[in-house]
Amino acid sequence: MAAAGSVKPPLWLLAELTYRCPLHCAFCSNPVDYASHRDELGTDEWMRVFREARAMGAVQLGFSGGEPLLRDDLEDLVGEARRLGFYTNLITSGVGLTPQRAKALKDAGLDHIQLSFQDSTRELNDFLSSTRTFELKSRVARTIKDLSYPMVLNCVMHRYNLPHVGRIVEMAEEMGAEFLELANVQYYGWAWVNRQALMPSREALAQAEALVDEHRARLQGRMKILWVAPDYAEARPKPCMAGWGSVFLVVAPDGLALPCHSARMLPMEFPNVRAQSVAQIWRDSPGFNAYRGEHWMNDTCRSCPEHGKDHGGCRCQSFLLTGDAAATDPVCGKSPAHGKVQSLVDAAALPGGDAVPIRFVPGARRAGQLVFRTD
Ligand code: FES
Repeated sequence: MAAAGSVKPPLWLLAELTYRCPLHCAFCSNPVDYASHRDELGTDEWMRVFREARAMGAVQLGFSGGEPLLRDDLEDLVGEARRLGFYTNLITSGVGLTPQRAKALKDAGLDHIQLSFQDSTRELNDFLSSTRTFELKSRVARTIKDLSYPMVLNCVMHRYNLPHVGRIVEMAEEMGAEFLELANVQYYGWAWVNRQALMPSREALAQAEALVDEHRARLQGRMKILWVAPDYAEARPKPCMAGWGSVFLVVAPDGLALPCHSARMLPMEFPNVRAQSVAQIWRDSPGFNAYRGEHWMNDTCRSCPEHGKDHGGCRCQSFLLTGDAAATDPVCGKSPAHGKVQSLVDAAALPGGDAVPIRFVPGARRAGQLVFRTD
């Protein structure tokens, strides 16, 4: 375990203000039992967390959710974050971002807005989110530009919208985005439940990536495009969170402090900001020290020359695929469970395989169930 004195401070604080959300995205990374975590931190509690994280050296503060705009105190929280000297970022579906509210957030000092789209077409955007929000998001994009915020558009990519990737890039260009993040779906939360339906074939991924490369060259100097590779189809795992307890601190709506947004489903204890200071949590809690550094690695990871680069991959992925959070990430070709990942990707290419349209039935989702329906 790293000695408490040698632990570097967190740089990035992600404040998940609420799990509540007007959208019902099939790939949402929120916990599937989110309805049972309703005891949200209050304004003063959040401000204390911000002060403590900033005092440790954190510089970036992301307001996320759920939908953070559902919090009436968002402007106050942004104002306090700004006063403390954070660079602030709102991660939003756009629902609730009226021109008045966008202006109030600007006045409070918000630096940057990341707006999510589900697709370039109204049909698929609305289908995947189980809401009619495409037109609204387009209006919100105009509001963001009108107020001269730097604009980041984000689109989660999967087998349904990968064939539209060129059109998604053009849509972002037309909207004047400075930055487009095309994030291939990561299989946690609801996306894990819907994994078979969402997973694309290797061919679809390769075609989409080649097209993105063409657009990237064309748009050089005007819009940056980030392609977040789907690590199931890669030979080596992603350096998840740049290493556990390394730079990234998530505080969930009920105050649970986590090294990543998915970690609450791991079979281990995490501390709560209601009971401990951010400094105690970050430096001393067993949860944050469990997979920090290299002490926890098995021989496969420890003897691998790449472990300083990939930090052994993703603990949540290892747990979901093997039942052991300390196992080598099965995305890695050196993992004994790598065949499992390969079979999942291979199955996505089978004709007629899993191409079943999926829908949330909102009432059922609240009860923690997902209902598949064939149209
Ligand atoms: Fe939790 Fe990777 S998502 S460690």
